[in-house]
Amino acid sequence: MLSIQNLHKSFGQEKVLEGLDIEVNKGEFVSVLGPSGCGKSTLIHMIAGLESVSSGKILMKDREVKAPGTDRILVFQSGALFPWLNVRENIAFGLSNVKADKKSRDTAGDKVRIGKSKKHKFTNEEKEARVEDLMKKVHLYQFRDKYPHQLSGGMKQRVSIARSLAMDPEVLLMDEPFSALDEQTKMVLHDELQRIWMETKKTIVFVTHNIREAVKLSDRVLVMGSHPGKIIRDIPIPYAHPRKVTDPNLVEMEKVIMESLKDEIEKRTKEEFGDGYPMEESGVFSGPDYTMGDGI
Ligand SMILES: Nc1ncnc2c1ncn2[C@@H]1O[C@H](COP(=O)(O)OP(=O)(O)O)[C@@H](O)[C@H]1O
Ligand SMILES: [Mg+2]
Repeated sequence: MLSIQNLHKSFGQEKVLEGLDIEVNKGEFVSVLGPSGCGKSTLIHMIAGLESVSSGKILMKDREVKAPGTDRILVFQSGALFPWLNVRENIAFGLSNVKADKKSRDTAGDKVRIGKSKKHKFTNEEKEARVEDLMKKVHLYQFRDKYPHQLSGGMKQRVSIARSLAMDPEVLLMDEPFSALDEQTKMVLHDELQRIWMETKKTIVFVTHNIREAVKLSDRVLVMGSHPGKIIRDIPIPYAHPRKVTDPNLVEMEKVIMESLKDEIEKRTKEEFGDGYPMEESGVFSGPDYTMGDGI
């Protein structure tokens, strides 16, 4: 579905990404996990077609990505809703730019039956039905007339997810979509996203610096190192969904990932604190919070 081949990216003299090879299969939930500044956003912007490639290739269904497209929709960290549109209008916004596809099963379920022509503009009726189903899917139907400033952070992010799903992309790209939310909201949204993913069978590429989040949600975690950014591990998380963070298997996976990042964290600490920082005594790799579920 999505194939990234020997991808390099530099900004001027700074080499940000080096030799990335990534394959994402249809329906897979893949997380890209790495410390801040390792090039995660740069990578996902390149997949979205918002940033150019220095060398290498990004292919979507064997076609090279050269520009943004409705087959790859990016959900930003901030949600980026239009403040002058209400929930319903925000979700409907993208639909004016996409065509209904006869073959594609509707993201919102089977309610919308598409007409005879292969591709056509959405009729108002189709649009309304799709938006209504999506509002229900993200549990925002009762807030459909509210404006972004009247919503909580978690609600805004759900609108943003619904708006992206409305366009029925082949791949949903998410750049730390929950990192600005409080812990409780984040946990609820993890369950929501997991459910939505299971229902829609979307392919998702999810960028995060949160180990626990990556382990809970993904089929596969691609661990990135930094300076320059590269994939250092590709770790399958072979447990059935829906998952609970308290599952001992997941806690074990968090430790495995933390272990794989040990050298990377040591390298970064040295860069920032110098050689003298007492890594072993610091508790970074020991103690009750060893798994550092809240981030790296
Ligand atoms: N448009 C840009 N111009 C110059 N440097 C950039 C640009 N975007 C990102 N960078 C640099 O690329 C590196 C990776 O940034 P980013 O992809 O945002 O990392 P992450 O999302 O993992 O925190 C950083 O050093 C950042 O300063
Ligand atoms: Mg980023």
